[in-house]
Amino acid sequence: MRAVVTGGAGFIGSHLVDRLLADGARVTVVDTLSHAGESNLAAALRSGSCALVRHDVAAPGLDEVFAEAAPEAVFHLAAQIDVRVSVTDPVLDAGSNVVGTVATLEAARKAGAGKVVFASSVAVYGPPETLPVTEDAPVNPLSPYATSKLAGELYLRQYHQLHGMDLTALAFTNTYGPRQDPHGEAGVVAIFADALLAGEPTRVYGDGGNVRDYVYVADVVEALMAAASRSGDGRRLNIGTGQPTTDLQLHRLVAEAAGSAAEPEFAPARLGDLREMVLDASAAREALGWQPRTSLAEGVKLTVDAFRAAR
Ligand SMILES: NC(=O)c1ccc[n+]([C@@H]2O[C@H](COP(=O)([O-])OP(=O)(O)OC[C@H]3O[C@@H](n4cnc5c(N)ncnc54)[C@H](O)[C@@H]3O)[C@@H](O)[C@H]2O)c1
Repeated sequence: MRAVVTGGAGFIGSHLVDRLLADGARVTVVDTLSHAGESNLAAALRSGSCALVRHDVAAPGLDEVFAEAAPEAVFHLAAQIDVRVSVTDPVLDAGSNVVGTVATLEAARKAGAGKVVFASSVAVYGPPETLPVTEDAPVNPLSPYATSKLAGELYLRQYHQLHGMDLTALAFTNTYGPRQDPHGEAGVVAIFADALLAGEPTRVYGDGGNVRDYVYVADVVEALMAAASRSGDGRRLNIGTGQPTTDLQLHRLVAEAAGSAAEPEFAPARLGDLREMVLDASAAREALGWQPRTSLAEGVKLTVDAFRAAR
């Protein structure tokens, strides 16, 4: 298979690239390297089957990049992922995430790509009315970032209606694993792992009882692979475990894996943080035959081991 992975130098994208290469695919990564360095792709680039094109998906010239790559499948993961940046600079966010998504769809259409899989987010839902959240729950994006992801989903639906393209949006819940940036505002497993291994303090916002759904990156990659091999009409499928985990439970698991007995500091709850969010992924199980395979304890251990090895 020939594939284009936008955002392929990033956390999830680079794991997807490795998985595609293991499958014998030829991969073109389109990435600005604005958030991730080339290092995530070190092994991939050595393989000889992966090309890195340093290009902004929202910039002119994307059609030519896609024409050259002639992809059968496009995985669109490139995005500005920082919610706070989306609030302070919504124009920048919409440039990457809205214009960039339309440009990717357009380039994929012109290049005759058979499939586009789009990385959407749990953030499109906002505060849940019932848990776990299914795809027919109301959407209520609370940030420009979440709005940009919802806009991307709507464009997918439109491209299916207008052009009959085969498209799938996957809404990932909190994804974690090796290579996640520990210096961002999200990625709490990476943040805890990095700090605990360094013997530095960790911080929990609120009372530690906020609940999230953590899915391991290898499971997310399998969902992307499964989506690429099934047809879709642009609709969203949830990718999560359905398992609720509090911030304190997560902290304990990471500390245990890091061999640390440290307790977190508590800071005031952050405005806009949801109390609870857990996704129901039954639709993905039915449509893609996908289900998460990695337990949180196992995934946290793999992540902490990788962070330790990279120190
Ligand atoms: N990590 C999560 O928990 C999570 C949850 C839900 C959705 N997602 C989505 O999954 C995708 C991948 O997320 P990630 O955690 O790997 O983030 P990441 O920041 O590690 O990867 C994104 C990559 O996109 C690149 N990029 C950013 N803007 C670009 C642009 N305009 N043109 C080309 N490249 C650009 C960055 O350099 C980076 O390498 C994103 O679309 C994100 O919104 C992630």
